[in-house]
Amino acid sequence: MKKDFLAIADFSTEELQDMLENAIAMKKEWREHGNAAILKGKSLAMVFQKPSLRTRVSFERGMEQLGGSALYLSPQEIGLGQRESIADVARVLSGYVDAVMARVFSHDHILELAKWSSVPVINGLSDYNHPSQAMADAMTILEEFGTLKDIRVAFLGDGNNVAISLMYICAKLGAHFIFSGPEGYQLPQADVEKASQIAKASSGSVSIIPDPKQAVAGVDVIYTDTWTSMGQEEEAKQREAVFPAYQVNEEIVDLAHEHVIVLHCLPAHRGQEITDPVADGPHSRLFPQAHNRMHAQKAILAYLMAD
Ligand code: CP
Ligand code: NVA
Repeated sequence: MKKDFLAIADFSTEELQDMLENAIAMKKEWREHGNAAILKGKSLAMVFQKPSLRTRVSFERGMEQLGGSALYLSPQEIGLGQRESIADVARVLSGYVDAVMARVFSHDHILELAKWSSVPVINGLSDYNHPSQAMADAMTILEEFGTLKDIRVAFLGDGNNVAISLMYICAKLGAHFIFSGPEGYQLPQADVEKASQIAKASSGSVSIIPDPKQAVAGVDVIYTDTWTSMGQEEEAKQREAVFPAYQVNEEIVDLAHEHVIVLHCLPAHRGQEITDPVADGPHSRLFPQAHNRMHAQKAILAYLMAD
């Protein structure tokens, strides 16, 4: 059966650990003498319904570094589900390329692509989750602390796609995940329950602490993301009114462990969810984290596509 990369919850702890170890090994190999061409002659179609800097460039460079090639298809070109049905796009692309990565609005669209595609499909962000981002997040935590076991990770802000995938990877790898956000913007209850069950098996935990100051007390990692995700632009004003208490600023960082690292998937809205002194300060790992996307994704591509 073909493999897809649609959600962190679909993978076992061992599979995730293997991919992360491979990501770290590939980063080292790339720095020392370049990666082996394990995807020579293979190609990846990259379908985007929304803008992207990191996902697009890191997947494209990742494919090149493994000896393959990548093809960018903009929203205007494909018109996924508008110009042509998703089922038809999936079946056509499957005859041209060896895998498809897609960034979509509705999560159902990525599921539909995967259903009809005969080549692996990778989720490059949907309204529900962002699993390739979570792989780079976990890789960055691993590089810093050597493990995710017993690491305390606090996410401040919106219970969005990035927060959901981060919660699942923390649960799978034995970290203690803490969510803190305003009423009305919580993580979906079904995912909190599912991730809590997963965390039990790995001796991790999932907790919701509404007070952001309590949530970050003594933690090892503070994570935040935009208050308004792509597709929610009309709600921006309303959101800007309720989120300021969850801003990651120096006062918040001072409450965490002294070795705390601050992560953000980017793009950042400086002065909103994160301040300049934190984003550019000694605890920030924002740019190594963004760079790790490329290596984490090479591990995903190798897992799905290498012979
Ligand atoms: N973090 C992330 O996915 O960035 P882009 O939207 O630029 O791809
Ligand atoms: N939550 C953000 C992440 C961007 C990478 C969004 O969906 O817009």
